[in-house]
Amino acid sequence: MKVTLSTDSVTDIRADLLAIGVFGSLRRDPHVKAIDAASGKSLSAVARLEMFDGSVGQVVRATPGGIGAKQVVLIGLGEGEPTIASVRKLTATAARLAQSYGTLAVVLPASDGASARAAASGAVLGAYRFSRYLTGDRVPTKSLRTTKLLVAKRTPDLRAGVTAGVTIAESANHARDLVNAPPNDLTPTALADFAKAQCKELGMSCRVWDKKGIEKLGMHLLLAVSRGSSQEPRFIHMTHKPKGVKNPPKVVYVGKGLTFDAGGLCLKPAKSMLDMKCDMGGAATTIGLILAAARLNLPVEVHAVIPSTENMLGADAYRPGDVFPTRDGKTVEIINTDAEGRLVLADALAYARELGGDFLIDHATLTGACMVALGPWRAGMFTHDDELAAKYTAAAAHEGESYWRMPLDRDLREMLKSEIADLKHTGERSGGSITAGLFLSEFAGESRFMHLDIAGPAFQERVRGVHPKGGTGFGVMTAVRFLESLAS
Ligand code: BES
Ligand code: MN
Ligand code: ZN
Repeated sequence: MKVTLSTDSVTDIRADLLAIGVFGSLRRDPHVKAIDAASGKSLSAVARLEMFDGSVGQVVRATPGGIGAKQVVLIGLGEGEPTIASVRKLTATAARLAQSYGTLAVVLPASDGASARAAASGAVLGAYRFSRYLTGDRVPTKSLRTTKLLVAKRTPDLRAGVTAGVTIAESANHARDLVNAPPNDLTPTALADFAKAQCKELGMSCRVWDKKGIEKLGMHLLLAVSRGSSQEPRFIHMTHKPKGVKNPPKVVYVGKGLTFDAGGLCLKPAKSMLDMKCDMGGAATTIGLILAAARLNLPVEVHAVIPSTENMLGADAYRPGDVFPTRDGKTVEIINTDAEGRLVLADALAYARELGGDFLIDHATLTGACMVALGPWRAGMFTHDDELAAKYTAAAAHEGESYWRMPLDRDLREMLKSEIADLKHTGERSGGSITAGLFLSEFAGESRFMHLDIAGPAFQERVRGVHPKGGTGFGVMTAVRFLESLAS
């Protein structure tokens, strides 16, 4: 989809749908006034009929006539000033309504670059559909091709904001596609091929290790998890080195890449297994954020490190009671084969810390316990590093993505003591997301490390805000904002 800037008035603009975000009272809104004047007050008449008061989430559609747009939608955004999150939600909501129209026009509620970026990203996120597997008359014949943002004046700031917004949202949409792709097609090999193809297109370096290579890397935990699957595992390392920047800050991201998690021998019940194609959500976010970093040429060196495998229960599957060495020479006693994420991440973190970044951050759909604690759309943030937590929280608040810092209580570490090995990989049921974070911390070495449990927000049961049903691309926008904050 194309996003453009237009200086046409709300009454002249030609579009299939014209969206106006209403902050508070309708009566004070100059755009509604202008349309009323052109159409004989019909817009506010419909709004009154629908008892529209501009509160958050209210949507009223009308066909006032007498103006250039075929249809108008008023979208309530609540009292107060426009924020990045509310502007993005406005265009996302409008784009979702206009998904099978040709053109959308949206009045940009504020005239700065940041708002343009938020609006452009919202439009691209809202227009997202996953229709690759539909056939016959379910193949969408029409799609939103253009979103025009109505502004008083086209400025370089606004133009740059639009370009950045589109780029970031397209990167998040790649992450959504990866999560939504069915697990029979999106195998670890297919995930690695996607990473390679994208890197080639963007001139990034990409290294991929197959099973033999992973053996050479000494990643016995990744190999253990993959043993039950007929699909080969892959280990992926993408690198964005900014052009023309000396000594940039350096951030290493790691993403859990389970293309399917059946639970292994500790098999999941059917209901919990159904959505487990989402278990590469951390990998998807990691790929999404590095694609954005590369396309924006962010002045930060970014690494994306992804261990990818299935967790199945073939004849050679790893068992509870098995003991395996890790890449960094520890030994781990397997307790529950469904706690596979932390195993593949342990080897990946041991590799990633050797890259010597300023920060080491992982995204993982790691524990159901984190969803029990925080609900379905908030990510858990686990770190001992207060400064990193504060920086990331600020980035997230700016973007309107929900995180919550969780305690990484060191005294729960004793739950991971094993009689026969250095560590076991699960503790008790209580504190399940924390002991998972503690286990990961063992492999981060001296790095400034943060673990982000995105089990909830990576995949949604229903449409919410800018997020569609299914894969969300959660975390890409916050990561980009965080990376930008390091550079400035
Ligand atoms: N991939 C799951 C976690 C998950 C659950 C992600 C729901 C998204 C939605 C993870 O591998 C898992 O199975 N975790 C177990 C850990 C337990 C066995 C210690 C869990 O949360 O039940
Ligand atoms: Mn599992
Ligand atoms: Zn899993």
